Amino acid sequence: MKKVIFALLVLFLSIAPLVAQELPAGDEALETKKYEQYEKPEACKSCHVDIYQQWTQAMMSQAYTHHWDEIEYFELAVAHSQLDPKYKPAADGCNGCHTPLAFLTGNVPPPRPEKNSRANESVSCEVCHTVKHFKGDTPVNFNYISSPGRLKYGNKPGVVSPHHDTELNPFLSTAEFCGTCHNEKNPFGIWVKSTQLEWKEGPYAKEGVPCHRCHMPQARDRNAKMAEESMVSQHLFHGAHDPGKVAGAIELRMHPEERELRFDDTVVLKVQLFNGKAGHKIPTGSVEDRILWLHVTATDANGKEYHLPVDKKGFAGEEYTIAADVLAYQDIGIAQGNPNFPGLPRDGVPVGDRIFRMPYLDPEGRMTIMQWFTKTLGVDYRIGPRETKIETFTWKLPADIPVGKITFKAQLNYQKLVKPVADYLKVPADESEIVPVNFATTWIEVYE
Ligand code: HEC
Ligand code: HEC
Ligand code: HEC
Ligand code: HEC
Ligand code: HEC
Repeated sequence: MKKVIFALLVLFLSIAPLVAQELPAGDEALETKKYEQYEKPEACKSCHVDIYQQWTQAMMSQAYTHHWDEIEYFELAVAHSQLDPKYKPAADGCNGCHTPLAFLTGNVPPPRPEKNSRANESVSCEVCHTVKHFKGDTPVNFNYISSPGRLKYGNKPGVVSPHHDTELNPFLSTAEFCGTCHNEKNPFGIWVKSTQLEWKEGPYAKEGVPCHRCHMPQARDRNAKMAEESMVSQHLFHGAHDPGKVAGAIELRMHPEERELRFDDTVVLKVQLFNGKAGHKIPTGSVEDRILWLHVTATDANGKEYHLPVDKKGFAGEEYTIAADVLAYQDIGIAQGNPNFPGLPRDGVPVGDRIFRMPYLDPEGRMTIMQWFTKTLGVDYRIGPRETKIETFTWKLPADIPVGKITFKAQLNYQKLVKPVADYLKVPADESEIVPVNFATTWIEVYE
């Protein structure tokens, strides 16, 4: 009997580390793996030709090497963590989502992208196709469980490959899988990314439409050269970096309260904004960087143009949602060892325009783009899935307005990174390009 117990104990002790090794996720998975355990994306290329090419075009293959990621990681996050070691785990954690193999192998900070190390693989095929499940109740902070090996998890049962084994893993097809990297809580316990949580509260979760159906749509195709045709999930992960994905994501409508006005009247215009295309709020994800703004102009019968500022609604925190000439982002100086940094213009868009955003605030209550340094969130004035917001523009006709037709144009634009920050940190221009989302027009007649 004793021998049996002893044998069981030995067995338990010998497999316990293996079980434990398999379980770590999130922060505790740092340095628990070796690069050699994972194949390079090029190993998949010879058979999964299309999927490979799609992935090289997607942000997934650039999550570590992309210019703005490199700048924010090295010049702000790593720099800040060197001045204040409290932020070291958060800076290491960037890699848990942006270059998971570097994180799992403890290669942090990884070599700069120019060194061409394996960190450059970013979110590679193997990162996703070795995920078994996630640890905990909520997907957040890279708490996926990585289990590398000959077995690749997929979304179909019983498919056969000469290069590897495959197994259906239903977890890959859930929004929770995406949420392991698309939800993030920072050192202050603030949800600085919550795309999967926004989705979960919205209509698409109730209808059983996960992220995949919009970002990995299925089409009749071959997933590998030698495979049969079937419905294949595409791998473009098109999002904020695809102007075509952003185009039309919000529909705009505009009408005046009165169509015919006297020359000394006041025009009241209503603009409706409907999020008919996204499964989450817009903007989502890197909300600290992103803005969506509404610019309304009038053109009178002589062709003269006027800019109309939005009407105030009077809710708490509204000042952050109306473009103004104020400074913010002083904490960039803290990260870069220049505490007297005066800050940068907050918005970089025409004063008076409505901005749909959620401000992130540093410990001193100033707006920040450093998500790891965010102590509180300001008002959430983004547009939820299938939500409609109405904005009003009240405009007293100028004294010299000519009689005839006045046409109005509402233009909705999106920017991945507010321009003053992009310019200051020398982020290449495509990150702050103005992406048109939609427009609407209407008119009134002015009589004597
Ligand atoms: C020698 C060719 C070959 C190579 C190399 C290869 N695969 Fe495959 N793979 C296949 C074939 C064939 C299938 C089965 C396709 C089918 O029948 O639909 C497959 C299936 C899969 C599936 C399962 C798909 C599903 O529908 O569930 C995944 C996941 C996968 N491969 C990932 C990879 C990854 C990751 C790599 C690189 C590390 C890779 N493969 C390398 C040929 C290959
Ligand atoms: C961000 C995670 C992620 C990355 C990176 C990724 N995949 Fe996938 N892949 C998935 C998910 C999720 C599915 C299942 C999609 C679904 O359920 O609709 C999938 C499905 C597949 C399939 C089966 C498609 C089908 O419908 O038959 C193959 C094959 C595959 N991936 C190969 C690859 C290869 C090769 C790469 C790298 C070039 C790659 N994947 C990169 C997440 C990823
Ligand atoms: C291992 C972490 C990880 C997983 C899992 C993951 N993502 Fe991502 N995803 C990222 C990172 C990191 C980025 C940011 C890339 C960048 O811009 O640097 C990103 C970016 C994106 C983008 C934005 C692309 C753009 O053009 O701006 C979309 C869309 C996206 N992911 C969808 C998905 C979906 C859908 C899933 C689940 C099927 C998923 N992701 C799973 C890490 C992940
Ligand atoms: C009904 C379709 C739909 C669903 C479902 C959906 N998305 Fe999106 N997603 C979009 C559209 C459209 C955009 C482009 C507009 C925008 O940037 O928000 C987008 C944009 C994004 C972006 C870039 C956002 C930004 O502003 O940087 C990310 C990241 C993303 N989606 C991830 C996800 C994840 C993760 C899920 C699931 C939890 C998901 N999406 C579900 C349609 C969808
Ligand atoms: C929990 C996963 C996760 C962690 C941790 C994380 N990120 Fe990200 N990051 C993402 C995802 C997902 C996106 C894409 C969101 C979107 O498209 O809006 C993203 C987007 C970004 C972007 C914007 C990329 C672009 O091209 O617009 C930058 C820059 C960035 N992250 C830097 C960092 C830095 C620096 C850290 C560490 C302080 C960090 N991230 C930590 C998941 C993560």
